[in-house]
Amino acid sequence: MRDTILAVIIVVNVLCGVLAYFIPDMGNYILLTIATAVTVLAIYDAFIQKKHSLMRAFPVVARLRWVFEEEREKIQQYFIEDDLNGTPINREKRSIVYQRSKREVETVPFGTQHNLYEKGYEFVKHSLFPKDHHHIEGEKVLIGSDKCTQKYNTSIINISAMSFGSLSKNAIMALNQGAKMAGFAHNTGEGGISPYHLQGGDLIFQVGTGYFGAGKSVKGKRVFDDAVFKENAVRPEVKMIEIKFSQGAKPGHGGILPAKKNTEEIAKIRAVEPHTTVDSPPGHSAFSNFDEMIVFIQRVRDLAEGKPVGVKFCVGDNEEIENMINAFAEANNYPDFIAVDGGEGGTGAAPLEFSNYIGTPLLEGLVFVNKTLKKYNLKDQIKIIASGKAIDAFDIIKYKALGADVIAMARSFMLSIGCIQARECNLDTCPVGVATQDEDLVEALVVGDKNIRVKNYHDKTVAAVKEVVAAMGKDSIADVKAKHIFRRNKAGDIDSLDTIYGLKEESLVS
Ligand SMILES: Cc1cc2nc3c(=O)[nH]c(=O)nc-3n(C[C@H](O)[C@H](O)[C@H](O)COP(=O)(O)O)c2cc1C
Ligand code: SF4
Repeated sequence: MRDTILAVIIVVNVLCGVLAYFIPDMGNYILLTIATAVTVLAIYDAFIQKKHSLMRAFPVVARLRWVFEEEREKIQQYFIEDDLNGTPINREKRSIVYQRSKREVETVPFGTQHNLYEKGYEFVKHSLFPKDHHHIEGEKVLIGSDKCTQKYNTSIINISAMSFGSLSKNAIMALNQGAKMAGFAHNTGEGGISPYHLQGGDLIFQVGTGYFGAGKSVKGKRVFDDAVFKENAVRPEVKMIEIKFSQGAKPGHGGILPAKKNTEEIAKIRAVEPHTTVDSPPGHSAFSNFDEMIVFIQRVRDLAEGKPVGVKFCVGDNEEIENMINAFAEANNYPDFIAVDGGEGGTGAAPLEFSNYIGTPLLEGLVFVNKTLKKYNLKDQIKIIASGKAIDAFDIIKYKALGADVIAMARSFMLSIGCIQARECNLDTCPVGVATQDEDLVEALVVGDKNIRVKNYHDKTVAAVKEVVAAMGKDSIADVKAKHIFRRNKAGDIDSLDTIYGLKEESLVS
């Protein structure tokens, strides 16, 4: 095959040479130059380079494979995927975020594209007596147990944790300014608080295992430090503290800041070495069992002058989670909220096995935490924040019905500021300036244009939640329970979610 390819290339080159000799115009000279360059490339591929066997066997032609490999995502997205099968977030879901963010037409023509008779199809039932959606209650939720003195009244939708480092400064500013405009909360992510987080929006200050913004390095190890933490925690913008154990995309791994994204500025904020890959440890060094954890939560709450303190994790071993909640009950001290992240959660960078095969999916994790808190009579004290591919009003209603008080969203807010799901967040090449530290790319994201989109997406999604709840004939978002949501099973019949998840008794009494 190699000889045939080389022969064809050389023959074409010779023909171009003959053409240029007999008809000496600019077009033919350009043709000859290209043909000669291809011949040189073919000789290089076939005889000189030794790294790629495929190129030695198929000179020049094999390079097309690399081009297609490189552009595979885009080809897939632009030419192959339909509205319902793109991953991780399908086109229909992406479109609704874009439309709500830009306040564009968000109605759909001609009828649903979903197969209503397929296994897994989910829906809610409407009432013959729908309510006026303007008067639906429950869009705000008060977080704070009896241990906390500065309770926080938050929106049912907030921006989930994403650090400066993982996201660009312009992305962080747009998110924070949008949160300020609409009056909801923005989680800092585990990378600490940067000046770009301080645009006036409410903050949930996340404390990860690297203790960035909450600790220091001692003999190469990151440790929690009361003074460093307090300085950030008492800022007026900080409304709640979230101690991160794990996230669904890489539970038990710890954060990863790729060297390319670890600029001088980010390294300074995190107090680490610039241009090196920064891996946060998988676990906390400040405590090592439930008793110490409860003491730590109270220490953090005291340092934060009574602000709500929560813990975030993706559910792993159910027994371990139950033991933790039991320990809260026995100590009569507990966090003010638990943030449950689903195994389907997003990330800037994660090892494949952790992303694909570790961690309980959100629905099962959420139901388990909700049931266990109820079992130990702690549901009134500890609120649940749920995250995992919540995009539209139905997702939010479903998670709320299964026990979430508040929903945190990461990727949908990324989409609202222009993410096109190119999935290059770990390479520093994000083409729309959302997940990169490359100055030129970052400049492409205009904060003054995107901040309003964050507000629009939040406001329009909350409005859509209210419209669905009104159509169901309920007065409040909190009135929707698992028994009101239905799913088609394998046999083609319909079950309610309280039956599927064993919540029947609870939903009847709650
Ligand atoms: C770019 C990016 C960065 C993230 N950084 C963090 C982080 O610093 N801390 C954390 O707890 N979760 C982090 N997450 C996870 C999200 O906060 C969230 O839990 C998860 O993506 C599920 O929400 P989603 O499905 O709405 O994206 C990150 C997610 C993304 C996409
Ligand atoms: S556009 Fe691509 S690289 Fe940028 S944030 Fe979105 S998925 Fe990540």
